[in-house]
Amino acid sequence: MRAEELATPALVVEAGALGHNLRVMSEALRGPRLRPHVKAHKCTGLASRQAANGHLGFTCATPREVEGMSAAGLGEDLLLANEVLDPARLHRLARLDARVTVAVDSDATVAAAARAGIEEVLIDVNIGLPRCGCRPEEAGPLSEKARAAGLSVRGVMGYEGHCVGLPDRELRAEMTASAMELLESAHRDVGGDIVSAGATGNYDLNRGATEIQAGSYALMDTAYGKLALPFQQALFVLATIISVSASGYAVADCGLKALGMDHGPPELVGGHDVYLVSDEHLTIGTVSPLQVGDRVRVIPAHVDPTVAYHERMHVVQDGEVLDAWPVDLRGW
Ligand SMILES: Cc1ncc(COP(=O)(O)O)c(C=O)c1O
Repeated sequence: MRAEELATPALVVEAGALGHNLRVMSEALRGPRLRPHVKAHKCTGLASRQAANGHLGFTCATPREVEGMSAAGLGEDLLLANEVLDPARLHRLARLDARVTVAVDSDATVAAAARAGIEEVLIDVNIGLPRCGCRPEEAGPLSEKARAAGLSVRGVMGYEGHCVGLPDRELRAEMTASAMELLESAHRDVGGDIVSAGATGNYDLNRGATEIQAGSYALMDTAYGKLALPFQQALFVLATIISVSASGYAVADCGLKALGMDHGPPELVGGHDVYLVSDEHLTIGTVSPLQVGDRVRVIPAHVDPTVAYHERMHVVQDGEVLDAWPVDLRGW
């Protein structure tokens, strides 16, 4: 099948760019130095490619991602880098045929993990992003409580999300180093082998982590595209021009229900201007001759939420659809 024959809007992954991204990252961070974050692609087909490159440990954001990875036979070492209190879901995770490590940052999450039969945890430390994680000085005492509750503490994790997208590389490096000082001081108190942190934006700048949790590098988006990283845009949303106005704009069938918009509007291959994005429409302010029925390629501003809107991603090479990978890790 040709890509132009796909029903739109359709998620399209350029096989060449994907292969390039996976290769470049695997050469930079070998084997267990990279713990790919699956939340960026939510796709076991893509995760299998990462595993084939030697990355057998994965980061997950939701219990559903952990369960899906386990069901796909990718459960060698799954880190749920997120707090979970729900006893039913924790029970399910504890019973998977997989090695599951869960992030904890409070007495309540330690107690919930221990009660559900989870065996291994990481202490999640807040290193500057206003999100989950205990204060660095609380990490040691919390690890003692976790061990007293029968849990094995593998180390610490933190997410320096306030640094990873900074356009200035030097500032990104400096801010990453200060965030990592906090995580490393927590690690001295906690012990264990793992210091898990990092992302696509600072995969080569984060010196303190034993493993990097990068996810977006595989598919990329316009936000990371601005950072001069060595990764190529692999993800596009293919759309059809469904209407052209005499006033000089065209409308594609790809709205904000097919595009993550929290990092701003998407861009278009071919340099057309995005004028307006509404639920099911992308209005393109254009003086160029777009015709009803033309296909356009939209580059998402944020890969993670874009992928989560779609049921499958089509792997394409030279305009030919090679494969359709289900986005099978969606949901919570
Ligand atoms: C816990 C955690 N680790 C790592 C990342 C980095 O992912 P990416 O490489 O897609 O920026 C994220 C992204 O939000 C995250 O939440």
